[in-house]
Amino acid sequence: MIKACKYRSCRTPKTERLRDACESKGEECSIEVVAVNIDGKEIQVNKGTTILEAARRIGIKIPTLCYHEDLCVAGICRICLVEVEDSNTLEAACSYSIYKSLKIKTHTPKIRRARKNVLELMLASHVGECYSCIRNNNCELQRLAMEYGITSYSFGHENTPKKGVDKTSHSIVRDMDKCILCRRCVRSCIDLQEVGVYTVKNRGKDSSIATFKDCSMEDAVCINCGQCVNRCPTGALHEKDETEEVWRALEDSSKHVVIQTAPAPRAGIGEEFGMPPGTPLTLEMNTALRYCGFKRVFDTCFTADLTIIEEGTELLVRLKDQLIGEKKKVLPMFTSCSPGWVKYLEHFYPEFIPSLSTAKSPQQMFGSIIKTYYAKTHNIDPKDIVTVALMPCTAKKFEAGRPEMNSSGYRDVDYGLTTREMAKMFRETGIDLPNMEKSGFDTPFGGGSGSGIIFGATGGVMESAIRTLFELVTGDEINSLFQHGEIKEVRGFEDVKYMELEIPKVGEVPEILRGVVDDFNFLKGATLKVAICHGTANARRVLEDIKAGGVFSECHFIEFMACPGGCLGGGGQPIPTDENIRRERAKAIYSEDNEASVRKSYQNQEVLKLYEEFLPEGPGCKKAHKYLHTSYTPRGKEEIKI
Ligand code: SF4
Ligand code: SF4
Ligand code: SF4
Ligand code: FES
Repeated sequence: MIKACKYRSCRTPKTERLRDACESKGEECSIEVVAVNIDGKEIQVNKGTTILEAARRIGIKIPTLCYHEDLCVAGICRICLVEVEDSNTLEAACSYSIYKSLKIKTHTPKIRRARKNVLELMLASHVGECYSCIRNNNCELQRLAMEYGITSYSFGHENTPKKGVDKTSHSIVRDMDKCILCRRCVRSCIDLQEVGVYTVKNRGKDSSIATFKDCSMEDAVCINCGQCVNRCPTGALHEKDETEEVWRALEDSSKHVVIQTAPAPRAGIGEEFGMPPGTPLTLEMNTALRYCGFKRVFDTCFTADLTIIEEGTELLVRLKDQLIGEKKKVLPMFTSCSPGWVKYLEHFYPEFIPSLSTAKSPQQMFGSIIKTYYAKTHNIDPKDIVTVALMPCTAKKFEAGRPEMNSSGYRDVDYGLTTREMAKMFRETGIDLPNMEKSGFDTPFGGGSGSGIIFGATGGVMESAIRTLFELVTGDEINSLFQHGEIKEVRGFEDVKYMELEIPKVGEVPEILRGVVDDFNFLKGATLKVAICHGTANARRVLEDIKAGGVFSECHFIEFMACPGGCLGGGGQPIPTDENIRRERAKAIYSEDNEASVRKSYQNQEVLKLYEEFLPEGPGCKKAHKYLHTSYTPRGKEEIKI
């Protein structure tokens, strides 16, 4: 039985919310339609549609800055001003809802002058140094200044930085001299993530974006998700750039520098090179990474498969204890591979820490395996190995620096680079990524299954876990229930998804699980209840529901990802982002899975070989716990420095 839960947030268009309200009452939707004329073009729109939405629908471009598709409308920057019949003032197109037939003009001389004024006022307090700015060539302010022909500064121009740059966070850098007060960061942090790091301080010309209590980003209760960075239109927010450190390691001939690449950057990096969203460049990137000097290029999907085995084993043990054991283990179990989500839980719901799987994330498992098993089998001193991770995520930088992530005696992962940082390194090397030759990953960790690949999308961890657990427990192929093993019920961008799956039978315990359980009788007749949730605002709703004893408290396993859409919408992915872009990236990920020859984690032969040679006592054994599992830190609302 499949059930889906719908949550509607304030970023859902008003007309859709009205329609939902009618549907929930079983009434026919009676939203009325009105005719509007925009720049001479007629269009019929539902009452409540904004001028901006209507104009976009007929291909008329109105500039925006504070507006973002993923966020609630703020209507504060005034760059989207338009003329509306019957109105004495110019109106903001992003916040003006149409309720009657109107004539609207979007590009008169008066409008152009007003927009130019808005831009010049912004530039008066903006420290402009585009050539040395991280957003040079991908800055909404710079682009508008160019489009509106700004060649002089009527209200003056600031050249001297005054506010200082906050580089204290492991992940996020704030340069408020470049801030244009659009408040997209404030809304990203509050609406999408319900974290609330930022606030608006003072009013009028003294207004600024500040952190709570004006603390540094290091001391702020920030989960490092980077969603504010993804939506900042300028260079005021960006990730902590570690490319120089990586270049230095690559130049050091005494170092053996290896890189692992996660699936989501592969589906996004093409956007940095002018390709449409969702252009997969996995094999081109492998060649480019070797050209940059990396000694080995490995696939994080390998340890995604390993995560499924370790996390799946942990789930089986918890299920057994819950269903027939005396010592009740905590259910539902929560996934632990999204470091933004983990930190969110540590801050806001530390009482749920026992619910988190103790399995390290694929990034960290990889680092640990490289500095132990790989170092030994390749006769390299782990102190001479530098592990770099290419991730879609700014929180991975924080995760790499967690003090407990050093089971080999060295940091599991030395540097976590975002997709944007990697693209920067390629550009610095003159690499034309889309036209690079294709090449495969290196052995022994170059083989990930399709299950490992779909970790990049929300629902991917759950789908992978179900594929493997179902087959190991029942002995039947997952294809007997889901065509081509595609569990569509857990895919997609619904805020929270819920699914129940009856276990039709149990089989013999396969060899890989012989040290874990004696039989599967405890699962006879059981119904597995799972949920999938992305974005920490949605996570909060699920956790509150569990606390209240709601439907999610009955779940056995819940996948949580901090970022909207999962890793493909990570804070280190190419800018811009919106739901359409994230959908295209998801298509690339699922099509790679679709074409993979091995699509279930437990069938990954390299993972099985790792168990045979390095972890002979099998999944969940003492040694596996030492290298592949971790612990967590209750943080509460006061940040504990690492
Ligand atoms: S934020 Fe934009 S306009 Fe400002 S310096 Fe950077 S690129 Fe230039
Ligand atoms: S930091 Fe960026 S997103 Fe936040 S208000 Fe300033 S310009 Fe806007
Ligand atoms: S990184 Fe995430 S939690 Fe931190 S300020 Fe930005 S949106 Fe908020
Ligand atoms: S984009 Fe409309 S007011 Fe900012």
